[in-house]
Amino acid sequence: APLAPFANEPLLELRRGAERTALTQALADLDAHLPLRAPVIVDGAERGGLPRRSVDPGRPERVLARAGDASAEDAAAAVAAARRAFPAWSATPAAERAAVLVRAAARLRDRRYELAALILRETAKPWPEADADVAEAIDFLEYYARQAVALAEPRELVHVTGERNTMTYAARGVAAVIAPWNFPLAIPGGMVAAALVTGNTVVLKPSEQAPACAAALYDALRGAGLPAGALHLLPGGDEPARALVVHPHVHTIAFTGSSAAGRDILRKAADVVPGQHHLKRVVCEMGGKNVVIVDADADVDEVVPALLHSAFAFAGQKCSAAARVLVHADRYDALAERLAGAVATLEVGEASVFGVDVPAVIDPEAVERIARYTAMAHADGTVLAQAPLPAAASAAGGTYVAPLLVAGLPADCPLLHEEVFGPLLTIEPVASVDAACDIVDASPFALTGGLFSRSPATVAHVAARTPVGSLYVNREITGARVGRHPFGGNRLSGGGTKAGGPDYLLAFVEGRVVVENT
Ligand code: NAD
Ligand code: ALA
Repeated sequence: APLAPFANEPLLELRRGAERTALTQALADLDAHLPLRAPVIVDGAERGGLPRRSVDPGRPERVLARAGDASAEDAAAAVAAARRAFPAWSATPAAERAAVLVRAAARLRDRRYELAALILRETAKPWPEADADVAEAIDFLEYYARQAVALAEPRELVHVTGERNTMTYAARGVAAVIAPWNFPLAIPGGMVAAALVTGNTVVLKPSEQAPACAAALYDALRGAGLPAGALHLLPGGDEPARALVVHPHVHTIAFTGSSAAGRDILRKAADVVPGQHHLKRVVCEMGGKNVVIVDADADVDEVVPALLHSAFAFAGQKCSAAARVLVHADRYDALAERLAGAVATLEVGEASVFGVDVPAVIDPEAVERIARYTAMAHADGTVLAQAPLPAAASAAGGTYVAPLLVAGLPADCPLLHEEVFGPLLTIEPVASVDAACDIVDASPFALTGGLFSRSPATVAHVAARTPVGSLYVNREITGARVGRHPFGGNRLSGGGTKAGGPDYLLAFVEGRVVVENT
């Protein structure tokens, strides 16, 4: 039967006591079963031991998973296995591949609370965002399933008498999926789903910080009937990822992560190595420095909560997070004062406490990076507000950092231009919306952006001038929903593909045309 039209998975109503109880129970059940296992898996079989650990960033002595440490040899074995499985999986009808995704989505739906608890523990992602991560993973599976069925239909071409022309899209081959930790189910889920449903076989290299979430994704797909050869799992550090990038039999690399890693991948994937008979295609989604412009006619009551959520939810560890506010000079004092009051009352604490705004950041390396920018804020600018750190949470060894609102930085300060990936927000006055657009246009990043204005002419003007992948008007700038808000950056933020959009699957296929003289 044809699939029903796509609809986004509803988010849980966390106001409701029953939902909170169910999530709290799921967390207790998870804790009772720790540590989980996240081995290297090639052709359905485990390889090697479990020398790595993923931990709860809020309480690092809590080990979430014992994980494999994939080597370059494991990567080579996974690619060889994926290559062997390619003929059968790519010849499987698109509707059957789509059905696997839909069944996998159902499995994630059945384990919704358990998976939110797992994401919360492995990445310290608070409940609303952890739930949204599961919902987004389900959405990617459901959405790409439908897109793939549509893509399998022959394309409409110009016809002339005596000639039959057809154009179809074929799978490219082996896809390496290299994922970050901050959307530990949704982002690998989306990239893997897109590659598989178009007929590619996949080697997934998840983030070293979130191997258990990737193992849950693997289980859902295999449990849904995906053949063992179609997906292989390589938890570990960067070594297996680097090996995949230069492997002659990898056809597509789907990467989401930092700009430095993305550019390294683009550079290396451009080389044609011995034994390679194709050009590699790289889907490359990277970081940002996201600016929100606030015009003189903006409603400050609306701006403050939207900025707080965009900048500080999940401790600012979203590529889409707001980092820099440019506010019309007429509204600067009012907004800076209101925002400072709000930032000072942000609740920092354990991700599992309902209502916590800012959890621990992912690891000690993140604390060090953010501390460097915090020092810059104190040395070169004016700290308008700093939320207090909870003594109890820090006592457990959690990697907490204090959220900051900063003003008065010199125009060339790196804090205004580099991605911090933490709970730091800067605010500056500008003479006009156009002056703000000039600043946005001078940035090498172009991922998300925001505008608060009540003037339709200003909205149209900024939309025309801003290069970002997603401009959000009069609302928060994070939380793209599959199908409604296709997501991906421009300039140094990304290659222009839009995850969860109508064209995304085209990155995973190649066009083939047959011209027949009849
Ligand atoms: P990261 O770049 O450190 O790691 C991501 C993945 O790349 C990991 O699996 C890692 O092992 C691998 N990797 C690292 N260096 C590599 C190399 N040289 N060659 C091949 N693989 C390599 O990123 P992270 O810390 O996991 O994630 C945070 C970053 O991701 C932030 O910059 C954030 O903005 C970005 N991000 C972007 C998007 C987007 O859609 N644009 C979404 C989420 C996160
Ligand atoms: N897609 C994620 C968001 O919109 C990164 O926040």
